[in-house]
Amino acid sequence: MEAVQAVRGMNDILPDQVGWWQEVERVARDVLERFGYREIRTPVPEKLDLFARSIGESTDIVEKEMYAFQDRNEDWIALRPEATASVVRAYIQHKLHADPGTQKFYQIGPMFRHERPQKGRYRQFHQIDAEVFGIDGPMIDAEIMHMLHLFLDRVGVTGVMLNINSLGCRNCRKAYREVLRDYLVSAGNDFCPDCLRRRDTNPLRVFDCKVERCQALIEGAPALIDYIDAECRAHFDAVRNYLEKLGTPYAVNPRMVRGLDYYVRTTFEVITDRLGSQNAIGGGGRYDGLVRDLGGPDVAAIGFAIGMERLILLLQQGREAPARVPPVFAAALGEAARSEAFLLVQELRRRGVEAEIDYEGRSLKAQMRRADKSGARYVVILGEDEINRGELQLRDMVEKTQRVVPLENAAGTIIDAAGHDRA
Ligand code: HAM
Repeated sequence: MEAVQAVRGMNDILPDQVGWWQEVERVARDVLERFGYREIRTPVPEKLDLFARSIGESTDIVEKEMYAFQDRNEDWIALRPEATASVVRAYIQHKLHADPGTQKFYQIGPMFRHERPQKGRYRQFHQIDAEVFGIDGPMIDAEIMHMLHLFLDRVGVTGVMLNINSLGCRNCRKAYREVLRDYLVSAGNDFCPDCLRRRDTNPLRVFDCKVERCQALIEGAPALIDYIDAECRAHFDAVRNYLEKLGTPYAVNPRMVRGLDYYVRTTFEVITDRLGSQNAIGGGGRYDGLVRDLGGPDVAAIGFAIGMERLILLLQQGREAPARVPPVFAAALGEAARSEAFLLVQELRRRGVEAEIDYEGRSLKAQMRRADKSGARYVVILGEDEINRGELQLRDMVEKTQRVVPLENAAGTIIDAAGHDRA
């Protein structure tokens, strides 16, 4: 019979790889919480409408990549393609804006986009997402990028670049949209059908097009950053100034518009040249106005998301997966000894030490081989003779020494030896 396979573009994360995920999440939580972010967990499915209203009807994500379906009540549901819209929805629904002061949230979890799978691009992928509500000023823009940079440094990523841009406010965008549309019209009708349509509906999205001839045609397009008003310009200059004071390296990339409609003013991406065409490790920006558009108060907001698969692919280029090694392995021969070893291993675990045992009653030689392969530092050896003498052998696999330990309070002695007592 043919075995069932996972859905295309959706990956299992197997135990020999999961160490990367645990480490990245641990560092992320540590850094985010230090900057005042609190974890939030929202559902994977949301009403389809939420994403159409926030990310934008004419974006690739909403037009082409959504996992959308009608449930048994015929309600339109989508698997979230990103986390920002969901966090905003929760923020409004639970009136989190009523709490005084700034609100900072983070979310770690799977997202879904029906893209063509390739290295670094999957249909289920994971993001570390951070969102801040209630701050207009440029200080938070710089802080969030500084935090992102610190996280990447702590987790051990090298060779990445922070690109920043300003998309101006909605007014600037309105003016620029006309300028861009005029340019696109003057560039002729050689654009792909998508871009021809977008020229009328949402010209900025032409910049997301991957078709080569479209890219060539927009090469000479005017840059948005040259059309932003004085206030937006001052905001952007202040962000840059703070980044410089913080020593966070960046480059201004006037071509970067990001693929989601909700952005205003500061946008940014972390780019690498080591992952082929999937070069964005993370990205984000301001989205003042979105909370109001989705039915909440008029609060400013900014955030970013990191793609965990891409981040881990980069980390894997530099080093081995972080290994998890049980410090103690118990090998026993004979029924009485096996029973004793079984009880000892459970006691070690109750007292906070990771310990392993051979459950199958194999030969001592086979058990020792397994102990060696497990990478355990200490091996407990128990046979009939040891039981009769009320002892066990404790072997230190690194020092290559072995000593006799009384069975009485053996767990305590082993814990002392291993320098562990995490009970
Ligand atoms: P985004 O640029 O669409 O932004 O996605 C952020 C990151 O998710 C990308 O830089 C990439 O690393 C990863 N990513 C996206 N699609 C895939 C995929 N198909 N396979 C693997 N990784 C992928 C957002 O999602 C915004 N919500 C970020 C944000 C938060 N803006 C404000 N707050």
